[in-house]
Amino acid sequence: MTYGSLPRKEDARFVRGRGTFVDDLVLPGMLHGAILRSPHAHARLVSVDTSAAEAHPKVRAVLTGKDLAERGMAWMPTLSHDVHAVLATDKVRFQGQEIAFVVAEDRYAARDALELIDVEYEPLPVVVDAPAALAAGAAVIRDDLGKADNHVFDWSSGDEAATEAAFAKADVVARQDMLYPRVHPAPLETCGAVADIDAITGKLTVWATAQAPHAHRILYSRITGLPEHRIRIVAPDIGGGFGNKVGMYPGYLCAVVGSMVTGRPVKWTEDRSENLMSTSFARDYHMSGEIAATSDGRLLGLRVRVLADHGAFNGTAQPAKFPAGFFHVFTGSYDLPAAFCSVTGVYTNKAPGGVAYACSFRITEAVYVVERMMDVLARELGLDPAELRMRNLLRPEQFPYTCATGWQYDSGDYPRALTLLKEIAGYDGLRREQAGKRARGELMGLGLSFFTEAVGAGPREHMDILGFGMADGAELRVHPSGSAVLRLSCMSQGQGHETTFAQLVSAELGIPPDEVEVVQGDTDRTPFGLGTYGSRSTPVSGAAAVTVARKVRERARQVASAMLEVSPDDLEWERGRWFVRGVPGRGHTIREIALAAHSDLALPEGVEGQLDASTVYSPPNLTYPFGAYLCVVDVDADTGQVRVRRFIAVDDCGVRINPMIVAGQVHRGLADGIGMALMELMAFDTDGNHLGGSFMDYLLPTALECPSWELGETVTPSPHHPIGAKGIGESATVGSPAAVVNAVVDALAPFGVRHADMPLTPAAVWRAMRGTPLRA
Ligand code: CDP
Repeated sequence: MTYGSLPRKEDARFVRGRGTFVDDLVLPGMLHGAILRSPHAHARLVSVDTSAAEAHPKVRAVLTGKDLAERGMAWMPTLSHDVHAVLATDKVRFQGQEIAFVVAEDRYAARDALELIDVEYEPLPVVVDAPAALAAGAAVIRDDLGKADNHVFDWSSGDEAATEAAFAKADVVARQDMLYPRVHPAPLETCGAVADIDAITGKLTVWATAQAPHAHRILYSRITGLPEHRIRIVAPDIGGGFGNKVGMYPGYLCAVVGSMVTGRPVKWTEDRSENLMSTSFARDYHMSGEIAATSDGRLLGLRVRVLADHGAFNGTAQPAKFPAGFFHVFTGSYDLPAAFCSVTGVYTNKAPGGVAYACSFRITEAVYVVERMMDVLARELGLDPAELRMRNLLRPEQFPYTCATGWQYDSGDYPRALTLLKEIAGYDGLRREQAGKRARGELMGLGLSFFTEAVGAGPREHMDILGFGMADGAELRVHPSGSAVLRLSCMSQGQGHETTFAQLVSAELGIPPDEVEVVQGDTDRTPFGLGTYGSRSTPVSGAAAVTVARKVRERARQVASAMLEVSPDDLEWERGRWFVRGVPGRGHTIREIALAAHSDLALPEGVEGQLDASTVYSPPNLTYPFGAYLCVVDVDADTGQVRVRRFIAVDDCGVRINPMIVAGQVHRGLADGIGMALMELMAFDTDGNHLGGSFMDYLLPTALECPSWELGETVTPSPHHPIGAKGIGESATVGSPAAVVNAVVDALAPFGVRHADMPLTPAAVWRAMRGTPLRA
C-alpha cells in the first residue's frame, strides 16, 4: 500500500507561484472583455445605446442582449432546467446582472468603454425577501416564463402522515425557526475564460474555471449549436471552486461570442466584486424545524418546512429529481422513525443562488437544522446535548441503514466517534469549567455537532446532471518504460488530485506515485464524466481509478503468463510484481511486463498487446462520511465578541488515501464553518443593493479567528467503494457551523437565549443577550 501522507506533487509549482491559472494565459492576438452590469435590482430595459463605446479606438466589438438574441444565445439553460439571461434583453432581475460585453485591445480600454454605454432603465418594484416574494401582489420577477407569481417549486420528502402520528404520541415537541443566511463560496481565484474559435476548423477552445469541464462542454454545445467534437474545454489550475465554478456564467459565453465576432481569442476575468455580486450564492434557506421525543429523550419524529431563496434564475446544480438537492438527508445521524420535509423554492431579485457551497447538494442546511434542533430539544428536556445525541445515534449494527426519507447509509460507527471526541476534548472537564465560569458570570459555551454527509453522486438510476448519469470514466496507460498516465474526468481545484490519484494507481500496480501522471480538466484528453463537486472525486473517479488499475493488473497477468510460460491461474500478485505461485523467485515486475507487452512477445489468444485499460464507474450508492465535532467558545459579555478557543473534530471518511491531504481538507472546512457561523453574510438592502461586494464587507475567516485545530479519526470503510474510501472534501464545512452556533447559544444560556441566527457577529450576539435578536 502506498497510502500515506505523501507531500503534494502539485505544490512544487504552487508554492513557487508557477501554477497556470486562466488569467495567466496569453494567446497571440488576444483581446479582453468586460461586462456592463445593472445598478438596478429590478428594472425594465428601455434602451441600450452602445454607439459611443463602439467608437472607442481600442474597442473591437460591443455585444448586447439583442446581438445575442439574433444568434439564439441571449438565454442559456441552467443546471436546474431553468433559463438564465446571458445578456439582458427585456429586464434586469438582480443588481449586477449582465447587460453588455465590450471587447477591446486591453482590459483597461474595455473597462473604460463600459462607461460610454448609455442604458435607459424603467425601475420596477424590488423583491429581496423570500416570504414577501410569495405574498399576493408581489412584483413578478420571471414574467419571461409567463409566470404569474415568484414560485419556483414545491417539493417534499418523507411520510407526512407517519410523522404526524409520531408527533401526536410525543411527550415533548420542540420548535424553532432559523435562517441559514445567504453566503458566497468566494474562491480566491475569481471566474474567467479565454475563448478561441479557429477560423479554419471552426473548433472552439475555451480555457475556463470549470469544476466540471465535460458538463460545460455539453452546455456550450447546446447553447452555440456547435457539435461536441468541435468544442474543447480546458480547465487549467483552479484556485478554489467550492461549488462556485460548477455552473455556466454569462461571461464565459460572452467571451465565446466575442471570439466568434472578432475572429481573435478573447479573455474575460471577473474582478472580486463581480464574483461576489453575480456568481452563484449558497444557502438562503428559511427553515422551521419541529422535533418530537419521549420524555426520556428518544427521538420520534422530525418535521421541517423550508422556504428556499433561489434568486432571479434557478441555477442550482443538483440531480434533476431533487429540486432541493439532498436536503432530505435531514434526519442526520439519528435513528428517527418518522420524518417529513417540504421545500418551496422562490424567485427574488438577487443573483442566482442555491449552489452547493462545499457540500453535497444542500446537506449543510440539513445538518444545520437537525443539529440545532437537537440542542433546542436537549435544553427543553434538561439533558446534556452529548447525552441526547448518544441516546439516539444510529448503532453500528443498524448499517446499512435506510433513513425515514429513503437514503441507505452505507456504514458507520457513530457512538465510537462521539466517544472519541469526548475523550480528546475532555468533555466532562470542560463542562465543569463552564459551570465554574458561569458562577462567576463568565460566558463559555460548548457546541456539539454530529453530522452525516452523503457524497459521491451518484447512482445513475437516481441521479443525473442535465439528464446525464453521474458515472465517471477513467483511462490508464502504462508506458513501455513502466511509468503511467491516468486520465480522469474529475477536476481538482486545489484538493491534491495529482497526488492522491497517483497514490491509488501506485497502490494497485506498484508503480511509484511520482511515475504516475494524472491528466484532468481537458475534454480532448480525458474521458467523459461529470466533474468535481459534492466531494464526489474520491467516491466516483477514485473508484474508477482503482477499477481501471485493477483491469491493467489483470492484463499484466496475461502478459506475465506468456513471459513465464505458465497459466495465468498459477500466478500470484505481490505489490508491483506477478510471480509463479510457490516459486517467489520466478516472476516479473510491472516494469518488465510493460516492456514485454509492447514487444514482439507472442501473447495468448485474445490478449491484446500494450498495457492499458479504460472504465466507466457508476457508483452503486453514495458514501456516507460522518463526524463528531465540538466547539468551545468564550463570549465577551460586554461586546458580544465570540472567541473560538478550541475546536475538536473527529472525522470518518473510511480509508484515507493521504491523511495529510485529508487533514488539510478538514482544516479548510472548519475555517469555513467559523466564517459562516460568525461573520459571512451576503446582505441586501430593500432596494436590492448588494452589500457585500468586497472582502471588506463580506468577511472571510483568517488564521486569526481560527484556533489550532484538534483532529481525531475513526475509519469505517465504505463496503461498496473498491478501497473503502468515502469523500472528505466538504465534511467539515457541513458539520462545523452547527457546532459553532450551538456553542455560542450554549454560552448565552444564562440570558435565556435558545437560538440566534448566523452570522453571530458581535452585534448579533449583543442583541441576542438583550432579547432583541437580529434577523439577517
Ligand atoms: O471531490 P473532491 O476532490 O472535492 O473531494 P474528495 O473526493 O473528498 O477528495 C478531497 C481530497 O482528499 C482528494 O485529494 C482526495 O483524494 C483526498 N481523500 C483522501 O485522501 N482519502 C479519502 N478517504 C478521501 C479523500
